[in-house]
Amino acid sequence: MYAVIFVYAEKKESDPIITHGKEVFMKNNCQKCHTILNLQIGKDNKESGEDDSKGIKAPDLSKLSAKVLSPDPKDAKDPREYLRKYLKKEIKREGKKHKIRFKGADKEFTELIDFLLLNTQRSDAQSTPQGEKKQNDTTKDTQ
Ligand code: HEC
Repeated sequence: MYAVIFVYAEKKESDPIITHGKEVFMKNNCQKCHTILNLQIGKDNKESGEDDSKGIKAPDLSKLSAKVLSPDPKDAKDPREYLRKYLKKEIKREGKKHKIRFKGADKEFTELIDFLLLNTQRSDAQSTPQGEKKQNDTTKDTQ
């Protein structure tokens, strides 16, 4: 029983889409402004005050917003196209373009987008309350 749960947890972490995407994300310094808290990305930066975002409040990317997931059809036909255009500064959002233009290779760009979308799907799955059982602690020596 328990073994099954552990295997599942490990499998999630070693998904190549997540591993590659994370690398691309870090390499392009996206974490200077953004956190992805469900993957423990960006946390340290914020806590240590070593923050290059110059006070810019960028959203946490654990889960993408409805603007991305259900894009305005005049901007993009699907989330993938929206991210592609938005991160290349081809479309505006409430009158503003994204802060930086993605400059990496196309292959990396695809990996990055796959990663952001997959991670969002997972956040959705995780948000259904399950597990999180209280630990049955055997050390009852409080007081
Ligand atoms: C200089 C700071 C900064 C950097 C660096 C940066 N972003 Fe952003 N990003 C922002 C801000 C601010 C917003 C919100 C803009 C808005 O809401 O109009 C944003 C929005 C986004 C969104 C939309 C999120 C949503 O759910 O609607 C995505 C996706 C995104 N950024 C991805 C990235 C990626 C990938 C990188 C690295 C290639 C990156 N960002 C680098 C500041 C930054």
